[in-house]
Amino acid sequence: MNIILLGAPGAGKGTQAAVICEKLNIPTISTGNIIREALKNGTEMGLKAKSYMDAGKLVPDEVVIGIVKERLAQDDCANGFILDGFPRTIPQAEALDAMGVVIDKVIDIEVADEVIVNRLSGRRVCEKCGRPYHLESLKPKAEGICDDCGGTLVQRKDDSIETVKARLDIYHNETEPLKDYYAKQNKLVVVEGQDTVEDTSKLVLAEVEA
Ligand code: AP5
Ligand code: MG
Repeated sequence: MNIILLGAPGAGKGTQAAVICEKLNIPTISTGNIIREALKNGTEMGLKAKSYMDAGKLVPDEVVIGIVKERLAQDDCANGFILDGFPRTIPQAEALDAMGVVIDKVIDIEVADEVIVNRLSGRRVCEKCGRPYHLESLKPKAEGICDDCGGTLVQRKDDSIETVKARLDIYHNETEPLKDYYAKQNKLVVVEGQDTVEDTSKLVLAEVEA
């Protein structure tokens, strides 16, 4: 199954991707995680993306489209994949269609802007695998350590209040129109993302299994 997770920054895309990944055993392709990894490794692409990412702005379409094209060509995507954070603009969605990639379902996780700011200020992510946790709502088994890979949990640079506000603006202007784009293709399903992580996971898995 080929799935896109849509939703505002902090809606829970990364969190729910981990749940689907465990259930279906298909990889998650998070453009945010791929760019952060490139940045950490000091690659040319990482350096190019840094100023955009730090300011909460979108990295240029051609850069992310190239990343996704390359990643989807790898063997582990043959039986399905979860796209987390891509597409983020209409040109990105069009590029995905032009690649001949068939998407089965687009799951839009809806969360109000007010809830987002609190979620992102308490977020911690694994430095190694990118899995998200939260200081209150989603604690790891051992403090500061990733349950999955043992990596150290850190705070993301773009999770400051000002940057989160900029990211939300961009989401409403550039990414939200994708709801209409995929509704027209009859692929969009909407789930309420404001309850607990477990409640949202139930709704998401019900859609995946429908
Ligand atoms: P990216 O890393 O994709 O960030 P984002 O879309 O802003 O989304 P987040 O990762 O912040 O949120 P999420 O929905 O994954 O929420 P999470 O599960 O962590 O992108 C970062 C940057 O990279 C962009 O700004 C841009 O510069 C660049 N980029 C990436 N893709 C791009 C693209 N396609 N085009 C251009 N540029 C691109 O959850 C958030 C927190 O809430 C966590 O702490 C979690 O534990 C907690 N939480 C989750 N669910 C619940 C719940 N139900 N109740 C309580 N707490 C919850
Ligand atoms: Mg994420």
